[in-house]
Amino acid sequence: MTHAAIVGWGKCLPPAILTNQDLATFLPTDDEWITTRTGMKERRISHVRGIELAITAARRALACAGMRGEDLELIIYGSCSNDETVPNSASGVQQQLGATRAAAFDVNTACTSFMYGLSIGTSMIRTGVVRNALVIGVELISQYMDWDNRNVAVLFGDGAAAMVLRETEQETGVVAEKLQCYADSRQILRVRGMGTMYANLGVPFGQTRWDFDGQEIFRRAVHGMSEASVEVMRRKGVTMDDIALVVPHQANLRIIDAVAKRAGAGADKVFLTVQKYGNMSSATAPVALVEAVEEGRVPPGSLVLMPAFGGGLTLSAHLIRWGDRVTPLESSDAELPPCPKTALELVNEIRAQKRIGADVAPRFDALRFVESPPA
Ligand SMILES: CC(C)(COP(=O)(O)OP(=O)(O)OC[C@H]1O[C@@H](n2cnc3c(N)ncnc32)[C@H](O)[C@@H]1OP(=O)(O)O)[C@@H](O)C(=O)NCCC(=O)NCCS
Repeated sequence: MTHAAIVGWGKCLPPAILTNQDLATFLPTDDEWITTRTGMKERRISHVRGIELAITAARRALACAGMRGEDLELIIYGSCSNDETVPNSASGVQQQLGATRAAAFDVNTACTSFMYGLSIGTSMIRTGVVRNALVIGVELISQYMDWDNRNVAVLFGDGAAAMVLRETEQETGVVAEKLQCYADSRQILRVRGMGTMYANLGVPFGQTRWDFDGQEIFRRAVHGMSEASVEVMRRKGVTMDDIALVVPHQANLRIIDAVAKRAGAGADKVFLTVQKYGNMSSATAPVALVEAVEEGRVPPGSLVLMPAFGGGLTLSAHLIRWGDRVTPLESSDAELPPCPKTALELVNEIRAQKRIGADVAPRFDALRFVESPPA
């Protein structure tokens, strides 16, 4: 049987760091609340467009795999914060990489977009449609954050990571997975302002209000990720003892702790980035996996468990068998342009731009969502 090994990995974190203290300069919050409730200390704010983060991560992943853009047969761009909708973002990556032979499409399942992309890329390799794939998870959440809402503004950051998959006869890459969606809860995480229907109300793009029921998302995330984790272990016939590392989606340290406990993983088996990057939506899990490999936490041939969840509410768990190689074949010289501003300056610029359209508030208030009952 054909499998899809992960043969290249790369990340791109924008350099500007937004601290809890920075957030407290314009929000009624403080370091103690954010740290104890979420485990977060810092997050990154990008000075470039999302696609630039994606391309830089992709170049690093390609070099790691010892491959060139022209070798690629598929590019999957996982994101819910695309720079534009038409043309899609994956084609922009393709153009910059010179991947002239590749198919290219975007996937949006919110924070699980990379993980769903990983499943799609793996399946297309297994079925012989393509022989390799580049899967990207990237988000520029700072541009559509509701910066006046402390319930959400402290939780998110920007970033990107990419992985190269290649066909192999060895049983590596994704060896078991579970994908699901709790659509009955889709209204508890909604970014009002992103989408065509808002244009009809005269809401400028980027002017957002977040509907966010943190406690309910928390409950469903813990339930969904732990159930999915247990399910993939059962499907593969392994236990937590067989797993070297758990690399979860990182939306809140308390969610991670609860999932790890229910899935039977000790703290030493769980890889964390939440303290330094917050929640980067679809970039979170792949950035964490890249760092885990870079830090030597993923031994050759070991099993990695990756549970995730996101808006929708989508959820997933992947069991990944790492290959023999844990070091890059080549290094890349891809770099972002220097950032001339602090993260707080970048955020204050975004806040000022949004105020220009502040008179749209009543239109948001008029648009209250009531989900249609199921058919
Ligand atoms: C959002 C979250 C951190 C809130 O933690 P919590 O312990 O549930 O906190 P609560 O919702 O009970 O809020 C407690 C109080 O803190 C306040 N609060 C919320 N954000 C705050 C902040 N940044 N600073 C200070 N106080 C804050 C609330 O307004 C509330 O005040 P009230 O009791 O006067 O109404 C937590 O629910 C969570 O992580 N949820 C899931 C996040 C998530 O899934 N994100 C993305 C999905 S991929």
